[in-house]
Amino acid sequence: MRQEQLRDFKAWSQGYVKGFYSDDPEIQAAVKLKEEHTARVQENIVRIARSLGVEGDDLLLAESIALFHDIGRFRQFAVYRTFNDRHSVNHALLGLRELETAGVLSGLPGEERSLVLTAIEYHNICELPPAVPDRLLLFAGLIRDADKLDILRLFAEDCARGEEQPDPLLGPDLPDTPGYSPALVERLLQHQLCSYADLQNFNDRKLLYLSWLYDINFAYTLSEIAGNGYIEVIVTDLPATGEIRAVHEHLQDYVNRRLAPPV
Ligand SMILES: [Fe+2]
Repeated sequence: MRQEQLRDFKAWSQGYVKGFYSDDPEIQAAVKLKEEHTARVQENIVRIARSLGVEGDDLLLAESIALFHDIGRFRQFAVYRTFNDRHSVNHALLGLRELETAGVLSGLPGEERSLVLTAIEYHNICELPPAVPDRLLLFAGLIRDADKLDILRLFAEDCARGEEQPDPLLGPDLPDTPGYSPALVERLLQHQLCSYADLQNFNDRKLLYLSWLYDINFAYTLSEIAGNGYIEVIVTDLPATGEIRAVHEHLQDYVNRRLAPPV
């Protein structure tokens, strides 16, 4: 793909998003939240891709994927007034429909178009399917890392502020009750991802986000997450029990092992 195509994509996206601007402060805040998230995910994906030596056309492709990965969020909120996919629709699939209807990607060669579309489709699934071809694995891995890096940043900022009532726009409405689900601690200690279906309260959501560390694809992303202190901030906002200390140590070990220089 060419530089001018990315410029056209950005111009189309800007116009498309502006179409959802509203005098209703709740809608406007939701649109802005996703507009700003998208801009940061674009920055993230470029930095992560460069850390892997991705340049040229492939870097433009990666940025296009980031630009469009959440394009379905705008219609999702306009129609359903929520970002919760379980209470509305899968926002990735809705985004693909929007892109197709507008014919935005029609100027891309077939291989690149399908790469962009499938990476978007895969950005929010729990785990990638087995046997994904290498090239798709790279771009799906990039958008998944870039997206998680920003979500963890926003979430850690919320935890650091000690938000009593976490921003309802940022995730599912969960009660801010004491304690957490021991089953999630168990999963974390066994190196397994937690799932949204298991969440009982807001502390469980913290454990779920910590489990994302196991699903980070590239060392650069992991070093950003660890280096910015997101893990400590989220752990500190959980009850100070022996179990949580064990989870923290386990995660630190995991990060240290993955970031250790090869011998
Ligand atoms: Fe998304």
